[in-house]
Amino acid sequence: MSLFKDTLRSDQSLFMNELALDYDFLPKLLPYRETQQHYLASCIKPLLANRNGRNVFIHGASGIGKTAAVRFVLRDLEEETDEVHAFYVNCWQKNTSYKIIIDICEQLGYRLTHNKKTEELFEIVKGIVNKKCAVFCFDEIDKVEDLDFLYSFLEHIFKKTIILITNHKEWIDELDNRIRSRLLPEVVEFKAYTEKETQGILKIRAEYAFVPNVWSEDAFALVCTNTTALCDIRAGLFLLRQSGLCAEEKSSKRILPDHAKTAIERLGSFTTKRAEDINLEEDSSLILSIIKEQGKQKIGDIFKTYMGRGGNAVYKTFQRRIRKLADSNLITLEKITGGAEGTTSIISYNDAEKKLTEF
Ligand SMILES: Nc1ncnc2c1ncn2[C@@H]1O[C@H](COP(=O)(O)OP(=O)(O)OP(=O)(O)O)[C@@H](O)[C@H]1O
Ligand SMILES: [Mg+2]
Repeated sequence: MSLFKDTLRSDQSLFMNELALDYDFLPKLLPYRETQQHYLASCIKPLLANRNGRNVFIHGASGIGKTAAVRFVLRDLEEETDEVHAFYVNCWQKNTSYKIIIDICEQLGYRLTHNKKTEELFEIVKGIVNKKCAVFCFDEIDKVEDLDFLYSFLEHIFKKTIILITNHKEWIDELDNRIRSRLLPEVVEFKAYTEKETQGILKIRAEYAFVPNVWSEDAFALVCTNTTALCDIRAGLFLLRQSGLCAEEKSSKRILPDHAKTAIERLGSFTTKRAEDINLEEDSSLILSIIKEQGKQKIGDIFKTYMGRGGNAVYKTFQRRIRKLADSNLITLEKITGGAEGTTSIISYNDAEKKLTEF
């Protein structure tokens, strides 16, 4: 008996460039987002003429090219000129003013950050950046714990474009006036891709990633339909990769509908956001366990239980943690308007088993 007899040899792999299916792989072209990219470029262009740029607030659902479009524009800008600094910060990972300024120092190549306070570091950054102009992109902006850094950049960096990205349109309404009146951003909404656009995007990605002609048309159509239903290209990338892996596990030289079906079943363990970013703080784990235990509940009731169990975050921080759990697909947030208490949110726990039946 040979346990490995039917395994495909490495030169028989169905993948040509599996990295092209990574969520943060930036393709050479970003079709269907040209309008948004041109608009972003027009907000940045004044900087090239040494004038002030315009700020932009981008919102839209998960997995529809917001980050990719901005990174694309920043890449083009860096290729075009050395006169504008371009900074990209993911506030999910860098969620305080201190972490953000350290990140920007790193991007500037400034290494003497040890033992320096946020304000000192800011002075250093200001000194360097104000010699030129700058574009700052703060992605997942709703995940930051404090906005001191934003105020400082708005107030003390002279020629700039600040781009803020979030899934939550309402984030901007909760901003205090001090920041809002300085930011005055252009608002850009990213809408979900249509079925045709989704197909187009996945086709190009599959051409990068797979050996030619390994996909059966029906299997590919299944991946496209499911991705369109989820309105999330990341889910499509997950399905493409999992279908390929499944075909390889079965030692098949083509990817067939059965392989795509298995991949769709595996979607149950797919979380919309990058799993490695979730890394829950202790406090969020407490909140999640309360939600799991109590079933569907109003956000206010969950907050009361949370405080009763020693939770000490203020309500605003608690709300941010709830949003983060929802963005990680661990819970569902449902907004109810017009009840006896006005607007409230109903929260429920998501388990992977339940999600499977939704496809
Ligand atoms: N038009 C497109 N062409 C090619 N790939 C795309 C396109 N739009 C999105 N993608 C790919 O889909 C994935 C998700 O896109 P992106 O990271 O930009 O989503 P997002 O809108 O920022 O989502 P989130 O709000 O969850 O951060 C990325 O791998 C990206 O390269
Ligand atoms: Mg993003």
